[in-house]
Amino acid sequence: MTTSPAPAPLTIAILGCGRRTGAKEGWAIGYAHADGWRACGRPVRLLAVDPDAVNRAAFAQHFAIPDEDTYTDLAAVLAAGVPDGVSVCTWPGLHVPLALQALEAGVRRVVIEKPVALDLGQVRRLTEVADAAGAIVAVAHQRRYEGNVAVLRELLGTGALGKDLRLTARVGDGWDILSWTSHWFDLAADLLGGAPERVLAGLAWSGQRRYGHAVEDASVVLATWKDGATATFLTGPGMQFDVEVAGTEGIARLVGGHLELWGRQGSRVLPTPATKPFDLLMSEVVAAAEGGPEPRCSLRRSGIGTELCFAAQESARRRAWVELPLQVQFAPLEILAHPTVGPAQGRRVLLLADEHFGSGGRAGLAAALQRVTGLVPQVIHAEERGLTAADLDHVDAVVIYHTQEHADAATQAALTTWVEGGGRLAIVHAGLGAWRHWDTYRQWCGWVWAWGRSTHPIDAMVLTTTATDPLSLGFREAWLPADEAFIHLEATAPVEVGLTVTIPAGTFPAAWRSQAWPQVRAWMPGHRGDLWSLPVQEAGLAALVG
Ligand SMILES: NC(=O)c1ccc[n+]([C@@H]2O[C@H](COP(=O)([O-])OP(=O)(O)OC[C@H]3O[C@@H](n4cnc5c(N)ncnc54)[C@H](O)[C@@H]3O)[C@@H](O)[C@H]2O)c1
Repeated sequence: MTTSPAPAPLTIAILGCGRRTGAKEGWAIGYAHADGWRACGRPVRLLAVDPDAVNRAAFAQHFAIPDEDTYTDLAAVLAAGVPDGVSVCTWPGLHVPLALQALEAGVRRVVIEKPVALDLGQVRRLTEVADAAGAIVAVAHQRRYEGNVAVLRELLGTGALGKDLRLTARVGDGWDILSWTSHWFDLAADLLGGAPERVLAGLAWSGQRRYGHAVEDASVVLATWKDGATATFLTGPGMQFDVEVAGTEGIARLVGGHLELWGRQGSRVLPTPATKPFDLLMSEVVAAAEGGPEPRCSLRRSGIGTELCFAAQESARRRAWVELPLQVQFAPLEILAHPTVGPAQGRRVLLLADEHFGSGGRAGLAAALQRVTGLVPQVIHAEERGLTAADLDHVDAVVIYHTQEHADAATQAALTTWVEGGGRLAIVHAGLGAWRHWDTYRQWCGWVWAWGRSTHPIDAMVLTTTATDPLSLGFREAWLPADEAFIHLEATAPVEVGLTVTIPAGTFPAAWRSQAWPQVRAWMPGHRGDLWSLPVQEAGLAALVG
């Protein structure tokens, strides 16, 4: 009697063994991949690959991998022989570089963790290389293989939920779009018939990073499909993990591993089969490499999970709908996370301000100064005291925003030394009415508020830079909501006007610099506190203190 030879084992390298740390980063997903490969229907010889000796050793021990099958990096594996497959289980920045290295060496089975990459250009490059090589590349969006998802997919296929499908997916535990919502994006594409047509998103970012990339604190993402289906995805406080699909005939909800169905006859929990998603994923990859069907999570299908992350970020960045396929190939949140450094970044500012008749201007101005300099300004309350020479140590610019009448001798001496020494002085809105009895200050101003003569109509303003743009404002025109526009100011010394304001009463100077002291600059608009959150006000400030 002859027996057919046992199939040769597949050699599978797990790139990134991982370590379960209990923190968000540190899931050790490599263990789930190894389990999946061992259950793929073929004998498997696992290689443990990780530069971290502790992670590598623990993984090797767990899976009984002999020492000679452990490696510090992929190059060492390839030097010993090309494996049949790899699982890329590192942090996202390494996913595509490692996958390309494997494919270029001739590896034909690649499973890559999500998000596929931190840059859509890399996803597209990986797709090209995989297609050209005829290799099977799949993404670990293993939720497509869950039993309750399979039942939900069938339910949708039979039309049991009716028409006008609306999917809502929430992400709990403070997770973010790239690390988590990518799964729900992928699932929505699976359930609703592929990639949506367009995406609209808003997100909040306070500086958080995770897995080596910028992550939002909270987000709202809306996606729409050609056939009218829509999906909303939420991250942020108070969320739990769930997916709900509502149609004209019923609602189905995936939550806590169950599938609930609400219809006209009431609600029930549907029976769903228990599955091992990674076993199914790896089995499909192995079968596909032997001529079987395309895996449900192939890169061609599941790359959308990552593309939608960048589409959402790009929509939030541009504040507009974004069409799919996405044109930009970079990571938009990284751009938001690294704002363009303007001329005022790093400038240390002293703000001498009063509360300006309760306008909120002092707080708004201080917040704007912090944004344009990246530093918290030192604020002195002008109603409490003036300046001393010591205040001006370690300062790059002084901003005046108050209408106090008298300057004491110390203030006069300190500021005179400052200005005569070339120090930057920015006189903002209220500051044009400050120290009305101090002639030198009035000369620095160039135009001043003439008490009893000047007025301030409250109108929407159109700001226009002059042709010479002596303040280097760098824009041509801007609009401000109704606020005090100072008119009929008194000229005290020659100035170069850089900006005019047009209101129903006419066109008037709005920003200028002194001819005699070019480092002394004035900016008229800015009574309302909220005005200081507008880009044009920030641009003006940057030009004044930068
Ligand atoms: N599919 C899922 O459900 C799921 C769940 C958790 C995490 N993830 C994803 O898996 C990825 C890994 O996350 P994790 O939490 O398991 O990380 P982890 O930190 O636990 O493991 C990453 C491992 O990669 C190793 N490594 C670093 N550079 C390497 C290199 N050049 N070659 C080989 N190994 C290298 C590290 O030493 C570490 O052991 C992330 O993209 C994450 O989003 C997916």
